[in-house]
Amino acid sequence: MGKLVKGNVTWVGKVDWELRKFHGNEYSTHRGSTYNSYLIREGKNVLIDTVWDPFAKEFVENLKGEIDLADIDLVVANHGEIDHSGALPELMRNIPDTPVYCTANAVKSLKGQYHRDWDFHTVKTGDTVDIGNGKSLVFVEMPMLHWPDSMATYMTGDSILFSNDAFGQHYATDLLFNDLVDRCELMEECIKYYANILTPFSPLVTKKIREVLGLGVPIDMIATSHGVIWRDNPAQIVEKYMEWAGEYSEDRITIIYDTMWDGTRRMAERIAEGIREADGKVTVKVFNIAKSDKNDVITEVFRSKAVLVGSPTIGGGVTSGMAGILEEIEGLRFRGKKAAAFGCYGWSGEAVKKMSGWLERAGFQVMNEGIRCLWNPDEEAVHRCVQFGREAAAGS
Ligand code: FEO
Repeated sequence: MGKLVKGNVTWVGKVDWELRKFHGNEYSTHRGSTYNSYLIREGKNVLIDTVWDPFAKEFVENLKGEIDLADIDLVVANHGEIDHSGALPELMRNIPDTPVYCTANAVKSLKGQYHRDWDFHTVKTGDTVDIGNGKSLVFVEMPMLHWPDSMATYMTGDSILFSNDAFGQHYATDLLFNDLVDRCELMEECIKYYANILTPFSPLVTKKIREVLGLGVPIDMIATSHGVIWRDNPAQIVEKYMEWAGEYSEDRITIIYDTMWDGTRRMAERIAEGIREADGKVTVKVFNIAKSDKNDVITEVFRSKAVLVGSPTIGGGVTSGMAGILEEIEGLRFRGKKAAAFGCYGWSGEAVKKMSGWLERAGFQVMNEGIRCLWNPDEEAVHRCVQFGREAAAGS
């Protein structure tokens, strides 16, 4: 059932309480998600975005309960990704001649995925559509936030920014608005979303936010495509994004390791001890990557000023768990963080050098050549690990 957002705007999306993995298996969603779709009923009736395709039939049936589909004057597709466009084929089967407003890149992504040729109306930043009652929609292209096709739509009069993925969170709730949900949970999901999805595009985030603020239009609400609508002080999430986009870090050091026979685990724990000895205030967290949620670990990396990674040498390289997280870290292009590597080995011992090189390619300032322990760490090696931790605390 639809829920009132403001004035003549109704939420007609889907709350997905049971979602635990998103983007295939790439993103953990411990708290589910929502796919937000909005119906505007002014002089013209406008549908903004749809929902993920498993819910397409349910979505269209519910929408029929809100409006005669033939009365929809236009559809806005802010983004072509399947979680927002997935119900378009089902919807457009019912209203094949209804215009679809989107960016030129969204025409490519929508055609590429659905192989249909709907009545596309391509829009650019600053283009407007009069929707009657003295109100209009203004489109703002948001390329690479986070796909080339992304855009936001601003509704004058009610001053709502339909921001699509930007400012969203994977957070299932029936409560619709930010002021009605648990703030700690909400902000945890916001920073996880930013860290795992938007980090590579931080320079664009800053630029785009400045551009939108530069328009000088009031923003009473930010209606995202996932999670809550920012109704209470929407500027707060814009300010957070500006902070996160600017080489963000807290007084934290994260240690990520993998281990086969516990040698590298022992190293990790002694290194953590050394950090704490040197700096009683810094937050140190230690993760066995094989037993941890990688997206939660990425969030910790995002919040950290330094990251220490450890793996035993196997097959002349690192464990598959360590390779996986380093591949992910490299793709996210973190900026302004320091790093170092450590690990046990039995004979050849290439892992530390490989991890150091990987970290450097990923944009970290590698603090030293790393530390290796032959076989299981003995007393002398334990001492070196503690010292390595002290130096990491001092150097980060
Ligand atoms: Fe929520 Fe980029 O889709």
